[in-house]
Amino acid sequence: VGAPALAFFPVSWRGDRLVLLDQRRLPGEEVYLECRTWPEVADAIRTLAVRGAPAIGVAAAFGVALAALASPARDRESLLADLETAIAGLAKTRPTAVNLFWALDRMRRSARSDPALGPAELRAALAREAGAIFEEDVASNRRLGAHGAELVPAGARILTHCNAGGLATAGYGTALGIVRGAVEAGRRPFVWVDETRPVLQGARLTAWELAREGIPHAVIADVAAASTMARGEVDLVVVGADRIARNGDTANKIGTYGVAVLARHHGIPFYVAAPFSTIDPAIPDGAAIPIEERDPREVQELAGRRITPAGSPARNPAFDVTPAALITAIVTERGVHRPPYHFQA
Ligand code: MRU
Repeated sequence: VGAPALAFFPVSWRGDRLVLLDQRRLPGEEVYLECRTWPEVADAIRTLAVRGAPAIGVAAAFGVALAALASPARDRESLLADLETAIAGLAKTRPTAVNLFWALDRMRRSARSDPALGPAELRAALAREAGAIFEEDVASNRRLGAHGAELVPAGARILTHCNAGGLATAGYGTALGIVRGAVEAGRRPFVWVDETRPVLQGARLTAWELAREGIPHAVIADVAAASTMARGEVDLVVVGADRIARNGDTANKIGTYGVAVLARHHGIPFYVAAPFSTIDPAIPDGAAIPIEERDPREVQELAGRRITPAGSPARNPAFDVTPAALITAIVTERGVHRPPYHFQA
């Protein structure tokens, strides 16, 4: 399977291995990374070779499929036990994006769904299930992109934060799915790309995707978003999500909350785009969403060079929570959801 809508392949399955476009090396180098074992997939997720909530879920699902292929188990029970080891290992990689746990749960349920399947059939069934998760993600992105395009006026200037594009999904993207949907609908959008310190997903990845497709855009330093809005140069904000609580509170890349506050101050609509697999109805509100703390060196260094004094500690929360009250609408494959939000499973 591959992503037909894109000129690149962020995540692709080759029957015995998972091939990932190594996002750590973009935009300078387009290098593909081959994962043949589940620990290699876990490592790719942890080190951001593959990142973005839906892409993490898809990669983890194929990680479980690889665990099944690699397991020497001759009976169903030992194969299921090996799968549990892989699922537990993959679940430890990153805590915030619920798509990871959603995909792992779905793989576990699939493995246990038919007690009549022997090990060989189970191995094949799990590769098929991961493929289905992949295909459904592309389809959801396309549907939400079409719903979201309706929110984009002709010639709109859209500000986005982080990368919620084809790279962050099985293909097409969520926030950038709406941009692509608007392009396909002939709305000719322009995109302001927040650089997204400290890991620079906007400057490195979103700009790379948009440049490849010839979609007009400009990168701005995160700190320039306020004045760009004040000058009247932003018509709407569209961002992705890592986990959406039952009440609509949304965890996304650190800095998203600030953008939402700015949008409210300037009277600019603020939209969240995500597939239903990003909604966690078990969580009542944003306070219960686990926020990943990453290595402080991501803040202390820029392109591998120390930029802070040797004695200065740093904190590095990778996500923040935007309260539902600041979100104009949440766009999923099921349509445009307006407040008050009450998401159910
Ligand atoms: O740390 P990352 O790069 O995995 O964070 C990604 C984001 O915050 C995205 O906006 C989110 O996962 C949505 S991707 C469609």
